[in-house]
Amino acid sequence: MPGLPGPRDSFADQAAEVVRSQTAFAPAVAIILGSGLGGATEGLVEEASFSFAELPGFPRPTVPGHAGRLVLGKLAGIPAAAFRGRIHFYEGNDMPACALPVRLARLLGAGTVILTAATGGIAEGLDTGHLVVGTDHINFMGVSPLHGWRYPDGTPPFVDMVGAYDEKLSDLAVEAAERLGVPVERGVYAATSGPNYETPAEIEFLRSSGAAVVGMSVVPEAVPARALGMRVLGLFFVTNKVGVEVSHEEVLKASDAMAGAIGAVIADVLSKGAGWTAT
Ligand code: HPA
Repeated sequence: MPGLPGPRDSFADQAAEVVRSQTAFAPAVAIILGSGLGGATEGLVEEASFSFAELPGFPRPTVPGHAGRLVLGKLAGIPAAAFRGRIHFYEGNDMPACALPVRLARLLGAGTVILTAATGGIAEGLDTGHLVVGTDHINFMGVSPLHGWRYPDGTPPFVDMVGAYDEKLSDLAVEAAERLGVPVERGVYAATSGPNYETPAEIEFLRSSGAAVVGMSVVPEAVPARALGMRVLGLFFVTNKVGVEVSHEEVLKASDAMAGAIGAVIADVLSKGAGWTAT
């Protein structure tokens, strides 16, 4: 094993030191909560918590609806790290900064990451309130999140992205959603760099690409998670149908309405799954 790859900065190590100086709690699973979804992990029994301002390299979220807190504690009996607020590329952060939650979680022991995200629904039949469990993604952000990453020996991480989204965890999520009565599909996530929404011509292009949903995050975390050997589950909730006028406020409102359902799906997956820790 050549060790873990990473970008040039040492912020993840520094942030891990800050966390370890205050708690010995080791999360097995990380959960990154998208726009307006902070409430999805309300059932978490808190052991320790940090504002992003306390964690070296973590920028403060600038977007309304993103709290910017790392909360550690058990969720459905599993040691978890909930990132309430994410670091977006569209805020001007570079890719290594966007990946900091995943990089930190891996150093603390997490072997799995659950990526939640607000999305626009592209595929026929998708509507506000629907859940799409990710089968794959397409990176339309214009740069690989691993740009500049190296193994300790200097080699770039040529990471295989086939089967990046864990099938077993996806099955558990679909089953959980069906049991809970949440409308659910499986599909591909297309990532744009944002912060503007898509033009009608871009929507047509994305539709023909096979994408089911579109959003402005996920990829900067999913690719590094794979580079770090973590399992990935993508829970993408539809806040709006593309092609209809959309605003950030509407996206937040729809997210807020779905937080309970997404939280229930996450808790169900955690209680039924296994193999969370990093190896
Ligand atoms: N497009 C891109 N990102 C989004 C959308 C959308 O329509 N809705 C929520 N996030």
